[in-house]
Amino acid sequence: MKRVDLKRSLLLRITIFAFALMLCAVAVTLNEARNRIRADIQRTGSTIAQLIEAEVATSTPAFNRDLRGLELTSLAGIGGLIHFCASVEDLYVRPVVARCFGDAQAPLLLPASFMQWLVGRDATYVGRIGKYPGIKVGELVITPNFGSEAAMVWADIRNLLFITGGVLLLNVLVYLPVRRALRPTDDILQRLGRMQAGDLAVRLPPVELIELQRIGDVFNHLADRLEHTIGEQRQLASRLLDVREEERRHLARELHDELGQCLTSIQAEAAYARELADDQLPALRPCAEAIARITAHMMEVLQLILRELRPIGLEEFGLVASLEELVAARNRSSHGRCVHTLDIGPGVGAASDNLNVSIYRIVQESLTNAVKHGDADHVDVSLRVDGADLQLRIDDDGRSDPDADFSGGLGVLGMHERVRALGGSLTLTRRPERGLRVDVRLPMHAAGVSRRTVATAGFAGSAA
Ligand SMILES: Nc1ncnc2c1ncn2[C@@H]1O[C@H](COP(=O)(O)OP(=O)(O)OP(=O)(O)O)[C@@H](O)[C@H]1O
Ligand SMILES: [Mg+2]
Repeated sequence: MKRVDLKRSLLLRITIFAFALMLCAVAVTLNEARNRIRADIQRTGSTIAQLIEAEVATSTPAFNRDLRGLELTSLAGIGGLIHFCASVEDLYVRPVVARCFGDAQAPLLLPASFMQWLVGRDATYVGRIGKYPGIKVGELVITPNFGSEAAMVWADIRNLLFITGGVLLLNVLVYLPVRRALRPTDDILQRLGRMQAGDLAVRLPPVELIELQRIGDVFNHLADRLEHTIGEQRQLASRLLDVREEERRHLARELHDELGQCLTSIQAEAAYARELADDQLPALRPCAEAIARITAHMMEVLQLILRELRPIGLEEFGLVASLEELVAARNRSSHGRCVHTLDIGPGVGAASDNLNVSIYRIVQESLTNAVKHGDADHVDVSLRVDGADLQLRIDDDGRSDPDADFSGGLGVLGMHERVRALGGSLTLTRRPERGLRVDVRLPMHAAGVSRRTVATAGFAGSAA
C-alpha cells in the first residue's frame, strides 16, 4: 500500500490545482483576446474606411486627389473603443498620415511583440479610400495596436493571478488546522514505539481530532487488556515456578529423609557385616565391603542430586556464593574436560532476593546444556549490574547446530518462563566463532518467585 503524507499531499494537490487552473484560465483569456482582435480588425475596417472617406470629402477641395492635410480626426470617437493603428497612403504610395489609438503601455510581462506573435501578422485590414464613386484617392492599412491590447489582456490576467493567490491563501488556511490536528501523530508514534519496546504502561494522549481520538480510545482499551493479560500471565508463570521450586524442595526432602536414612542404615549394616565377617565368616568380607562401597557411591550421587534440586546457601550466603559453589562443583565434576569461569561485577549482591533463584537456575541449566549439547571446552558466566537491570551472559565454545531452534526440551522453556515471569528478556544466539551465547536481562526490582521457595543451606549439604 502506498504511504501518504496527508499534510504534504494536501498542500501539493491544492497548489498544483491552483496553478493548473490559472494556466488554463490564462490560455483561455489569450485565445479569446486573439480571436477578438482578429475579428475586430476585419469587422471595423470598412467602417473606419468610410469615416476616413467622409473626412477626406470635407477636408480637401472637390476634384483634388491630394490627401495632404488629412489628420484622421474622424476616428477619435471610436479610437477609444478599439485599439488599432491606421496608416493612409496616397495614390503615389506616399505615406500621408499614420496614427495609433489607445495609449496604454504594454506591461513588462506581456510585451507587444508577444501579442503580435499571438494574434498573427496577417491580422491586418487593407482598404481603399475613394472620393467619388469609383475614384480611388488612397489606401488605408489598419493593424491592431498590440501595446494597448497587451495592456488590456494583462488587466484580465492580473485578475486571474489575484484569484490564484486567493486559492493559495485558502490552501494555507486549510493546511494550518490540518497540521494542528495531526500534530499529535508524532507523539502517538513515539508512544507506540515505546510500547513496542515493551513499556506496557504507555497510553495514547487525548487529541482534538475525533478520528484520532477514537483510534486512541480503542488502542488504550486494547493496551489495558494486554497489560492485564500479561500481568495475569506473569502471575501464573510465577506461580508455576513457585510450585516447581516447592516440588523440588519436597522431592529433595523426601530423598534426603527417606533414601538418605536408608543409605545410612545400609552403610551401618554393611560395617557391622564386615566386622562380623572378620570374626566368623571371612568369605563374606568382600561382599560386605562391596555393599559399603556401593552405598557410599549412592550417597555421593544422592548428594549431587540434592544439590541440583536445591541451591546451596542461596538464602544464607547469597547469590554470589551459591554461583561460586555451583561453578566450582562443575569444575570438579568435569575433571578438566571443561573449564567454567565466573565473573561477577560490583553491586550484584544488592539484587532483589526474588531474582536469585531464577538466576541460579538459568546458570545451572545453561552450564548443563553447554556440556550436554555443545561438548564445550570453556563456559564463561558473567553477571553485572547495568543501570536498573541485572545482565547475565553465558558464553560457551561448544558445537551449536545452525538449525537448532532451542525447542524440544524443558530447560530453555523453563528459562523463558522464569524471565517472562520477572518481566525481563532472554536471547539465545550463536556466537560468530563457535558456541552459544545466552543473554538475560532482568529488572533488579522484579518480584518473582517468593523467598518461601528458596532452598535452605545445609539441608542438601547434610544429606546422606
Ligand atoms: N549450549 C548449547 N549448545 C548447543 N545447543 C544447545 C545449547 N543449549 C541448548 N541447545 C539446544 O537447544 C535444545 C533445547 O535445550 P533444552 O535445555 O530446552 O532441552 P534439553 O537440554 O534437550 O532437555 P532438558 O533440559 O529438558 O533436559 C537442545 O536440544 C539443543 O539442541
Ligand atoms: Mg537442557
